[in-house]
Amino acid sequence: MDFPYSRLRRWPDVEADNLQAYDATDLLLVDRALSLGVDGREIAVIGDEYGAITLALTDAGLDGVRVHQDLATGRRALARNAAELDLAGFSSHELESSLLAGARLVLLQLPKALAELEEVADAVARWAAPDVVLVAGGRVKHMTIAQNEALGRSFAEVRAERAERKSRLVVASAPRPVPAEPPFPVTARHDGLTLVAHGGAFAGAKLDIGTRVLLDALGLDRSRLGANATESAENTPNRPDVTRSSGVMGGERPSSAPTVVDLGCGTGALAASYALAHPESRVIATDRSAAAVASARATMVANGVDDRVVVTHDDAGSEIDGARADVVLLNPPFHLGSSVHTGAATRLFEAAARILRPGGELFTVYNSSLGYRAELTRLVGATEQLERTPKFTVTRSVRR
Ligand SMILES: C[S@@+](CC[C@H](N)C(=O)[O-])C[C@H]1O[C@@H](n2cnc3c(N)ncnc32)[C@H](O)[C@@H]1O
Repeated sequence: MDFPYSRLRRWPDVEADNLQAYDATDLLLVDRALSLGVDGREIAVIGDEYGAITLALTDAGLDGVRVHQDLATGRRALARNAAELDLAGFSSHELESSLLAGARLVLLQLPKALAELEEVADAVARWAAPDVVLVAGGRVKHMTIAQNEALGRSFAEVRAERAERKSRLVVASAPRPVPAEPPFPVTARHDGLTLVAHGGAFAGAKLDIGTRVLLDALGLDRSRLGANATESAENTPNRPDVTRSSGVMGGERPSSAPTVVDLGCGTGALAASYALAHPESRVIATDRSAAAVASARATMVANGVDDRVVVTHDDAGSEIDGARADVVLLNPPFHLGSSVHTGAATRLFEAAARILRPGGELFTVYNSSLGYRAELTRLVGATEQLERTPKFTVTRSVRR
């Protein structure tokens, strides 16, 4: 019986008429796996967005399929779709040896970032069976020769197949010997701030320009703070004093150390900068990407602030208590998959409104062309512009 792909939902991820919970690449990967006749216990699936591949294989009678999904939303969607279809017998893993040990077939939805593909290819070559075959698929319009080259660094044989239904499979086999140390995470220093990044983390170990504009607007840019960061920050004129306390620009001052949330933390640049500048603070950094969470945890250790920054893998801070936070720092995403869609940012504005106490402050940076100010005012509260560069706008919204 054919698998009921159309019953799959993306929820809790953004849902819209033009966004589906499966695509033609999923179908190609499932067909290929079934035609190869590999035991379910020897199959690993990586990048299964909402569980279509894992659930179709499980539905076809394959038991013991292992799956890795980067996003907390994807993990929740898979669990929900499995419950809805009454399917069990697969297991979820991080990108580590338990996912790949003994795997002879790895099915991969090609990630957008080349660094993420390199990290995955190394992991498969490092931990899977020596005769493993990696079948990677993607939409033809998003595929590049650089992806084949990235696979070629970990596999001696890489063969691109003919496109079908606007998707294409690339088959990699004969894993090459791996270096003693995995190529990721990578580390970079930026004026007193160290960033650590796994392949799938936003901006890698670089400090994003938008992030830098927000740090600068908040007086948290360490290149401007000099050696005694906290003292310098407190003396920086014309900047909101978020390093000293929160609620300073409209809300009541909290009596204890402020609770600060870095919502969609990526590698943790905002959380680490805040914690470095304000030793009394309690910071929660949260992201829906497992690669981001692993990166942010390593960033906190590298900056010596891991005892004061808790990093969580969650969707839009759903596990953070409501109406408690004093400050939320946000550099929201504006691309959803390959389609430009502002739903992802709206979701984080709504989350900030839920997390902040009345009078608490949301500091947001965004591409000026997106004009989020009216939406921030509607969803959070009075919003003023703090800074505007040719490309970015920084706003402060006070939770009503
Ligand atoms: C533009 S990046 C900013 C990363 C980091 N704050 C910085 O400034 O470098 C946006 C981040 O939001 C995360 N994100 C997107 N949607 C999310 C959601 N629903 N819940 C949590 N994180 C989310 C992405 O994974 C990404 O790491």
